[in-house]
Amino acid sequence: MRLNKYIAHAGIASRRKADELTINGNVKINGVSVREPGYDVKEGDVVEVNGTRIDRPEKLEYVLLNKPVGYITSVQDDKNRPVVTELTADVDARLFPVGRLDYNTSGLLLLTNDGDLAYRLSHPKHNVTKTYRARVAGVLSGERLARLRKGVDIGGFVTSPANVKVIKQNPRSAVVEIQIHEGKNRQVRKMFAAVGNKVQELERVAIGELYLGRLKEGHYRKLTRDEIEYLKNL
Ligand code: URA
Repeated sequence: MRLNKYIAHAGIASRRKADELTINGNVKINGVSVREPGYDVKEGDVVEVNGTRIDRPEKLEYVLLNKPVGYITSVQDDKNRPVVTELTADVDARLFPVGRLDYNTSGLLLLTNDGDLAYRLSHPKHNVTKTYRARVAGVLSGERLARLRKGVDIGGFVTSPANVKVIKQNPRSAVVEIQIHEGKNRQVRKMFAAVGNKVQELERVAIGELYLGRLKEGHYRKLTRDEIEYLKNL
């Protein structure tokens, strides 16, 4: 964030006044006087105005993103691939994703700068229901459905009972809705693989009572107050 905006958000001065303070040498960053109002304040920078350290209390933001395939669920990627926070860059907060969706999975992803909420939602004890829509290869027989519903071994871990519904069976693929409660790495892909159906497409459509709805891929919306309350009370 630009230095003048940072100072303004801390309620110290207007942006114009912040520029004056900076140019006049009243602002230090990490103990060194900085006279550029356009300086980009980074995480960890210690900003002082007239010798007083300021911390900008960020407004808490809660965002629901429709993650497209081809984005990493992270704030940065060492291989320079696109990251989900690029899609929410115009929200004035340091958002981070809550939980993970694979690079090849699309759909509902929450982002927030509310560390307490993110931590609580990620904790296994919360096991909120997550609903996915998958396109899988082949035919999903009654026997395979029954195994998925009961729980399958995905490599040292047996999944708990899941709701599984075939929306459409085509000759060579099926569209399936699956609701799970745990969040093991690549769990849905592994569950279908365990019964012999490869996942071709995967989209998360809901987390608990929060729904993706008609939000377009790559777009986000802020959560309503009721939705935020709902998450806090989970
Ligand atoms: N299960 C998966 O296999 N992938 C996801 O991204 C989410 C759940």
